[in-house]
Amino acid sequence: MLGTSEPNSVRIPNDKVSTLVDPQAYADGKILDTYKWLRKHNPLGLAVAEGFDHFWVVTRAVDIRYISLKNDLFHSGDTQFSFMDKGSDERIREITGGSPHLVHSLVSMDPPDHVKYRFIAQSYFMPQSVRKLEDRVREIAREFADKMLSTGGECDFLTEVALNYPLRVIMSIFGVPVEDEPIMLKLTQELFGAQDPEVSGAGKVLSAEEQAEYLSKTVEGFHAYFRNLSKDRRANPRDDLSSVIANAKVDGKPIPEHAEMGYYITVATAGHDTTSTSTAIAMSQLAGNPDQFQKVKADPSLIPQLVDEAIRWATPIKSFMRSAVEDVEVAGRHLSKGDWIMLCYGSGNRDEAVYDDPDAFRVDRTPNPHVSFGSGPHICLGMHLAKLEMRVLFEELLPRLKSVELNGTPRMIPSLFITGPKAIPIKFVAESGV
Ligand code: HEM
Repeated sequence: MLGTSEPNSVRIPNDKVSTLVDPQAYADGKILDTYKWLRKHNPLGLAVAEGFDHFWVVTRAVDIRYISLKNDLFHSGDTQFSFMDKGSDERIREITGGSPHLVHSLVSMDPPDHVKYRFIAQSYFMPQSVRKLEDRVREIAREFADKMLSTGGECDFLTEVALNYPLRVIMSIFGVPVEDEPIMLKLTQELFGAQDPEVSGAGKVLSAEEQAEYLSKTVEGFHAYFRNLSKDRRANPRDDLSSVIANAKVDGKPIPEHAEMGYYITVATAGHDTTSTSTAIAMSQLAGNPDQFQKVKADPSLIPQLVDEAIRWATPIKSFMRSAVEDVEVAGRHLSKGDWIMLCYGSGNRDEAVYDDPDAFRVDRTPNPHVSFGSGPHICLGMHLAKLEMRVLFEELLPRLKSVELNGTPRMIPSLFITGPKAIPIKFVAESGV
């Protein structure tokens, strides 16, 4: 089914489709107008764009949740789980010898493997385990709060705090030494920033094939690092997450190397980039909305709500893809077996049916059932850790800040998959005596 014979009411108009496939639209926020239009006029529509396989675009929160929940009907691993053009997909399949995945990880697994592999690290990330990390996380948060305050009143919050704080936390859980953090940061930025000439260093937007090559080299870089780590942890297991992964068994057997590498890469990259973005956006929104800053400063019990609102607002992961396992009806649409489906988290997070005044940033928003962490069996494994990190950081920072304002315009990385800021320039006044 190519979608070209579908009635007009099912097809998304070309001007809206061109926004959906434009990495820049996710950076400058233009995508939000398209989402709004789609929620109102065609909440589960079909997009046909040159250079891409046709895809269904899911923009209402209720449908995003339904499809995410039904992982027997909608698979994550049969096609690309992140949105990309045909050229990149084909090149990746050439490189891997047929698989659509350069990295074989939890996000690309389906029943029955998914749950078995998720179990390996699950206990590390449950609320009761994460709570035990609070003292260590607070220590790291204080270091970064001190670092920011020592700049004297003006800094790029992204580079001073937001980039490296979540990196330090996840790497300390992993057991990666501090001196190796820059390698992890660089490889992560390359993995998620291939569509940005400034990140790839190519001085131009890479072609689809070039992007696939570039990503493949990046994945090799991760493999080289993690192979050594894994060897060490098999020989000398310690009390860290690397040791758990290196010595994991599924169905009584050690897990294959590609699955082990995929585990490391997913936790290492998903574990900080998205949290960095949410932390940076929280600060940028507080700096841009002095009334909201004063409100949460006056009432620190609102910090957990600030955290959720920032994660909703940032929606660092723009979408994950699924494919239909069989012909299926959803929201009055007929999807055929194999159809590709885009779950637009950024749209679900602005859904008027869920949120009162969805385009306002409110530190006291409650309830806030955002879909930034996905939903259903693949719901983010690290969500409790991400929220803990952000809460603790703002508990440490807010009492020390009298005021904060933007000192320039934050710019975002263009990407169809994961976007984040390039800089959050701020000016602040510190409280005296704290
Ligand atoms: C604000 C921060 C974060 C956001 C917005 C975020 C977002 C997401 C989303 C949307 C998914 C769902 C994938 C799907 O449905 O296909 C996911 C899965 C995942 N996340 Fe996060 N994440 C964050 C932080 C973290 C952290 C701190 C970790 C650290 C371990 C982590 C590890 C994972 C893993 C391993 C998965 C795969 C789960 C599975 O497929 O079963 N994430 N994340």
